Amino acid sequence: MSTSNKIPVHEPDLGEEEVEAVIAALRRGEISGSFGTALPEFEERFAAYCGCKYGVAVTSGTTALHLAVAAAGIGAGDEVLMSASTNIATALAAYHNGAVAVPVDSETVTWNLDPDRIEDLITPRTRAIIPVHIFGHPCDMDRIMGIARKHNIIVIEDCAESHGATWRGRMTGSFGDMACFSFYANKIITTGEGGMVVTSDARLVERLRLLRNLGFIKPRFYHEVPAYNFRMTGMQAALGLAQLAKIDRFIADKRRVAATYNERLGNIPGLQLPAELPEARNVYWMYALVVKPDFGRTRDELAQILAQQGIETRTFFCPMNMQPFLRGQVGFRDVACPVAEKIWTSGFYLPSANQLGEAEIARVCEVIAAARR
Ligand SMILES: Cc1ncc(COP(=O)(O)O)c(C=O)c1O
Repeated sequence: MSTSNKIPVHEPDLGEEEVEAVIAALRRGEISGSFGTALPEFEERFAAYCGCKYGVAVTSGTTALHLAVAAAGIGAGDEVLMSASTNIATALAAYHNGAVAVPVDSETVTWNLDPDRIEDLITPRTRAIIPVHIFGHPCDMDRIMGIARKHNIIVIEDCAESHGATWRGRMTGSFGDMACFSFYANKIITTGEGGMVVTSDARLVERLRLLRNLGFIKPRFYHEVPAYNFRMTGMQAALGLAQLAKIDRFIADKRRVAATYNERLGNIPGLQLPAELPEARNVYWMYALVVKPDFGRTRDELAQILAQQGIETRTFFCPMNMQPFLRGQVGFRDVACPVAEKIWTSGFYLPSANQLGEAEIARVCEVIAAARR
């Protein structure tokens, strides 16, 4: 991989196919989000990959979530349950639609939201739940869909980290009413910036397309709804198509990297390694682990030791119950999230690029083993 001694947490995996696809799109004039063949083809192929009928390509995972919440008709006075441990984008989707994000604490094995905690948090205001398949491990979608259907709640999967992950053999993104993907530079496939909402609901896809495209109807320039410009460009879609053609290899690489780490870190006491439940295929978007007290060093100490050797790491997410601007929102619910808080201070992820070789992984693991006290 890199010739220097530095090992980054991620490196994009781009080849000549991507370069040629973008240049070809440029030559065809597909520079906007309104014309061309790459966009509808990317939407169709990616949706099919996820086991869904429709895809709506947008500018980011953040805007995909924003759009999905808007298309569900969620607004002021509504509550949206979501994984406490997630990227702020998940909560922003509720916030920017005027709704309140209600955090659901994590469970201790996969670090996904704990299905046992959902029902107690449901109120007459609860309109939706956004489970996040964190670090590429799917949530228990059987439990979540069962609870949601019982209480008539919409499910929007946050699949920003879980392209190709499955639960009981079924793709993440195919369970909920809608699912949102990110194609940011560090995601399993990338369009640089970008995202997509997938769904099999014909009514929802119409609403998603309308809201993505400034609410254009006929006659042109006459608008019945306040909408957004969240359109992805054709050039990005062309890049996405080239990446999608390689997704099986990318996931195989992620799983190889994870298996190598598991083998080399498995015997070091004091580390909780990432799980893969029997029902799950984990795509290990990032190789995440928790540093326990018996390791003898804190997570921050270990991260610093690794950084001194040029090895980059990144912490788990600060949970949504601790975010200052969410705490200041009218209607904020102060839900205790002790597990999410604990992993925020004790969890981090290691270099996880597809291109990582055996020797680099060995070097990371040797530094970790030597740091233990
Ligand atoms: C769980 C999760 N949701 C949403 C997002 C937002 O995606 P984007 O960066 O494409 O806006 C990210 C990551 O970037 C994420 O990890």
